Amino acid sequence: MSLRLGDLAPNFQAETSLGPIDFYEYLGDGWGILFSHPADFTPVCTTELGKTAGLQEEFAKRHVKVLALSVDSVESHKTWINDINETQHVTVGFPIIADKDKSIANAYDMIHPNASETFTVRSLFIIGPNKKVKLFITYPASTGRNFVEVLRVIDSLQLTANYSVATPADWKEGEDVIVVPAVKTEDAIAKFPKGVKVVKPYLRYTPQPNK
Ligand code: BEZ
Repeated sequence: MSLRLGDLAPNFQAETSLGPIDFYEYLGDGWGILFSHPADFTPVCTTELGKTAGLQEEFAKRHVKVLALSVDSVESHKTWINDINETQHVTVGFPIIADKDKSIANAYDMIHPNASETFTVRSLFIIGPNKKVKLFITYPASTGRNFVEVLRVIDSLQLTANYSVATPADWKEGEDVIVVPAVKTEDAIAKFPKGVKVVKPYLRYTPQPNK
């Protein structure tokens, strides 16, 4: 059965471009992103891994550790990383998992046989510090992911975890956020000293608490 939101992300041991890892040990008590790509030496994947490498500081600021995965070998990953670094002007510093027996891809339902029997699709999981699945998105092989959106979701998830707020449609860093329904309006006024704007009893905005 496939993983759903709130499920425990399965732990695994893997060979990677940076040596063997235990997933949970690698994540420690921070956040994680595990994402699959169809194959090494393919154009869209090259840009995606380059973009991820370029955002390494942004992920680090948010205490997010990143891991990529495909069914190619460690040797293939290492050779391809040279191409990514050269063509995307980055230094890939995160591990790429060599999931040759597809055990991790199967545990995370990253192979969709009606798309491809052989290759992983473009799946991405955000894992919380409690190792629970917070988000998953799956793109077709021909569409590169939007990593700015991935960072935006992490910011939203971290605001919810730390401040009991949600984020409205198209929210961007610095904009007002929404008081979650579980917080009563009378409690919200004390909890959010920057102010609470009550548009409807169920629709209450407050300035982003950590700004
Ligand atoms: C790519 O990463 O460019 C790609 C991979 C598989 C199918 C189509 C594109």
